Amino acid sequence: MTITLVGHGYVGLVSACVFADLGNTVYVIGRNQEKLDRLKSGDPIIYEPGLEELLKKNLSAKRLIFTTSYKEAIPSSEVVMIGVGTPPTETGEADLTSVLAVATEIGKNLGPHYTVVSCKSTVPVGTNRKIEEVISKLKSPQASFEVASCPEFLREGTALNDTFQPDRIVIGSDSQKAINVLLKLHEPLEGERVVVGLESAEIIKYASNSILSTKISFANLISFICEKTGADVEEVLQGVGLDKRIGRLFLYPGTGYGGSCFPKDVLALINTGSSFDVDMTLLKSVDTINKQAQALFAEKIITNAPGKNIGVWGLAFKPNTDDVRFAPALHVIKTLLDNGFSVTAYDPEGMDNTRAILGDAISYAQSPFDAVDSKDALVIFTDWNEFKQIDLAKVKSLLKQPYIFDGRNMYEPAKMAEAGFHYFSIGRKHT
Ligand SMILES: NC(=O)c1ccc[n+]([C@@H]2O[C@H](COP(=O)([O-])OP(=O)(O)OC[C@H]3O[C@@H](n4cnc5c(N)ncnc54)[C@H](O)[C@@H]3O)[C@@H](O)[C@H]2O)c1
Repeated sequence: MTITLVGHGYVGLVSACVFADLGNTVYVIGRNQEKLDRLKSGDPIIYEPGLEELLKKNLSAKRLIFTTSYKEAIPSSEVVMIGVGTPPTETGEADLTSVLAVATEIGKNLGPHYTVVSCKSTVPVGTNRKIEEVISKLKSPQASFEVASCPEFLREGTALNDTFQPDRIVIGSDSQKAINVLLKLHEPLEGERVVVGLESAEIIKYASNSILSTKISFANLISFICEKTGADVEEVLQGVGLDKRIGRLFLYPGTGYGGSCFPKDVLALINTGSSFDVDMTLLKSVDTINKQAQALFAEKIITNAPGKNIGVWGLAFKPNTDDVRFAPALHVIKTLLDNGFSVTAYDPEGMDNTRAILGDAISYAQSPFDAVDSKDALVIFTDWNEFKQIDLAKVKSLLKQPYIFDGRNMYEPAKMAEAGFHYFSIGRKHT
């Protein structure tokens, strides 16, 4: 098939590379010529394991075409997928400016044949019908099209695997013809097919991210109680998670969820529910607890650190990504800076993106050891593999004071005490 992906971020570029790898011809539409030139040269711009290789492979096979021109891409495409950002507005709604601007361009450029327009961006219920309206008004009389919602479930850090082997592929449409085209496009990919109505597909995406966020906030809520009572949250959650009805996945405490999806999607679902007069107390609490988790971790550092010159490990909102959007690390670091701390941070992939947000308000280290050299304490936000078995004796020898604040519960409190650290983690008993 010949298809188009609009947007070349985590969703657009990964999907484009995967569909190209399956033998399709894939146009990728972007707005910025300099970025498109980098993509054409094989630089994926974002960090995602395996993506650079897949990009280069499909560029050399001439199955990937990067362009700014809708006129070049849309008329020859059987499927056009929208994968642009839907960031939160100040009031927490999903900002649909990009999605609707893209729909306008698609409408103006549809070819004189049948096209399926499919939205992969996470959009509130009713948006696909808006996309349909926009395109209907602008398309030429010879063009016919139908819309389908095809929400994306990939996780940054494992995006290629998640796209080749997803748990499920959700396709929502009123039209069996559109559904059939998308079923054919996705045929080589694994995963259960969930074929539903447009509105259901839109809500499935928000409901999925909201329940995952709820599990994290629930674990954090239990960790707050554990810290006050002398219980150990890891022991408690092991005991809870072994119940098959509950499970342990995503039931982990820490500094709260972050990234470009969970925080905004929880807020957007709160907004949607509220606009239909549904009481959204549950998800409002999930959001509040997430903020509390970050505030309590900052308070723990402010209260217990022996000095204000700290080293930080991890900026990305989770390992194996360079994405620092809504990362708890950045939020907590800002609180620490407001309280007179100075921060030197190290992250294997997230430093460039952090620099774009925090600039030189913090210093950037070349290595984890460099980050802790002569510092009063180490604060950990992201559980990158390279920190898991790091030489902690060397860390201790470099730190001015042997203090560690671990927002990911990476180490055993008893072993840390034995090694001579003052070790603070989340919701656990410290000796
Ligand atoms: N990142 C994830 O893990 C993930 C997972 C599932 C779903 N999603 C959803 O997918 C959508 C995209 O997310 P992302 O993380 O890929 O975003 P991103 O910020 O990484 O990429 C967005 C892309 O859209 C492009 N874009 C924005 N406005 C445009 C316009 N008017 N015309 C053309 N291109 C435009 C940007 O240049 C960029 O290439 C969002 O709705 C997000 O919620 C993201």
